[in-house]
Amino acid sequence: MVNKERVNIKCRHGADKNEVLDSDIIVCRCMEVKESAIRKVVRQGAATVDAVKRATKAGMGLCQSKTCFDLVAKIINEETGIPVSDIKPMKIRIPVRPLKIKSLNIDTP
Ligand code: FES
Repeated sequence: MVNKERVNIKCRHGADKNEVLDSDIIVCRCMEVKESAIRKVVRQGAATVDAVKRATKAGMGLCQSKTCFDLVAKIINEETGIPVSDIKPMKIRIPVRPLKIKSLNIDTP
C-alpha cells in the first residue's frame, strides 16, 4: 500500500522541484506509475486527472483509481494550484477480459 503520509511529505508546497521530480515513490501501484512521471506530465500541461491518466496510465489498473485518485489530484493541486475539490474524478472504464462463450452458460437451440 502507498504510504500517503510519506507522499505528502515529499509533495509539500515549496519543496525543491528537482527533488520531487527524482521521486521514486509509486503513486499508482496497479500500473506502477511514479510520482516523478505524474509531476512531469502535469508540468507539461496535463491539468486534469484524465489527462494524467492518458499520458501515464495512472488510474488504468484493476482498482480503477480507487487507490491513486486522491494522490494524483493532490499532485495536480500542488503543481497547478487548482483546488482538489474542483478536480473531477477519472472516467472509469471497466477492464475488459476475454472469456469463452461457453462460460456464459447460454442454452443454444
Ligand atoms: S492504484 Fe492506480 S489504478 Fe489502482
